[in-house]
Formats: sequence, structure tokens, C-alpha cells
Amino acid sequence: MSKNIVILSGSPRKGGNTDRLAQAFVDGAKAAGKQIALFRVADLKIGGCRGCNHCFKQQGVCVQKDDMPPILDALCKADALVLASPVYYFGVTAQIKLAIDRFYALLQEGMPVKRAALLMTCGDDSDNAAKSSISMFRQISTYLKWDEAGIIVAPGLHNQGEIVGRTELAQAKRLGENV
Ligand SMILES: Cc1cc2nc3c(=O)[nH]c(=O)nc-3n(C[C@H](O)[C@H](O)[C@H](O)COP(=O)(O)O)c2cc1C
Repeated sequence: MSKNIVILSGSPRKGGNTDRLAQAFVDGAKAAGKQIALFRVADLKIGGCRGCNHCFKQQGVCVQKDDMPPILDALCKADALVLASPVYYFGVTAQIKLAIDRFYALLQEGMPVKRAALLMTCGDDSDNAAKSSISMFRQISTYLKWDEAGIIVAPGLHNQGEIVGRTELAQAKRLGENV
């Protein structure tokens, strides 16, 4: 079982469906005594990876001075990672993708994360809209040697907070307890 979990929540909409799904996971994880570091990445200043490889020569330290270091520090202590995002044009949000790309800084040093989960919400009535994000998540997981801890997609959501009362919240809470 995982003890230290990092959650990146990628929606710019505060208190929206994705935040609530992520919070349900946090509630479950906290009830099970786990340590949680939650980052709402859309509230942070995170630049895109420049591919300059400065980090490879500087023990994982990125050349950019922005809000990414606390996330990388948390990842260096985490055994599990949760990515939470609404579907934006059949992918994850640009804000969470910026943070994911910056994991590059830890590629050489490595990170202790062993398991990862994906939480998504979308407007479409089926979870087909999340297909490419699930595929991306699985390919990153294989590449970085994370076991898949779970994938939850909550479809048919448009308005802020519409997820209240939906079964996916209970699923996310259970995942938080058991991850
Ligand atoms: C810019 C933008 C792009 C979106 N693209 C899609 C999409 O491609 N497929 C889909 O099913 N829903 C799409 N949606 C709907 C959101 O995924 C959905 O309403 C989600 O629950 C919003 O999450 P939030 O409340 O956390 O912001 C889009 C919404 C926005 C604002």
C-alpha cells in the first residue's frame, strides 16, 4: 500500500468536477492514514520544459525559476501519483501537461513513485472522450515503471459541481483508501 501520495489536479475551474473527484480521493486516502500532497497546477506558475538538458547536468535542478520545484520535491518522496484532469479537446489540460513534461528533470535521478492513478471528468456522455488521455497515461506509466493503481472517468459533466452525488466520487474515495 502507498503511504505518500502526490496529486496533481489539472482543472483551472476551482471547486469544479475534477477538484471534487480529486478531493474524494484525498478524503479516502486521509481516512486510511496516508500523507497527501495536492497541487492545483492551474494556480501555479509552471513553464513548459525547454528540453535544454540543464537538469541532466545539475542533479535534476531545472534552469527555470517557477513553481515546479515543490512538486518535484514531493515526487521525490512519493510512492504513488494521481493525475486528475478534465478532458480538454480529447486530452488532458495544458496546465497538467506542462507539469508532466517537467518530470523530465527527474528522469536521470529517478523518482520513487511506484503506482499511479488517473482521475478524469468529461462532458461527453461516454468515457470515449478520455481514450487518448488514458492511452497517454498508460504509456507514461510503462515508460516510468509505474503500476496502474486505477482509472476513473466521470462522463456527462458540464456545469461546475455537477458531479455531486455521482458514484464516481465513492469510487475515487475507495481508490484513495486502497491505493
Ligand atoms: C476548453 C474545454 C475543452 C473541453 N473539451 C472536451 C472534450 O474534448 N470532450 C469532452 O467530453 N468534454 C470536454 N470538455 C468538458 C469538460 O471536460 C467537463 O465539463 C469537465 O467536467 C470540466 O471539469 P471541471 O469542472 O473540473 O473544470 C471541455 C471543456 C472545456 C472548458
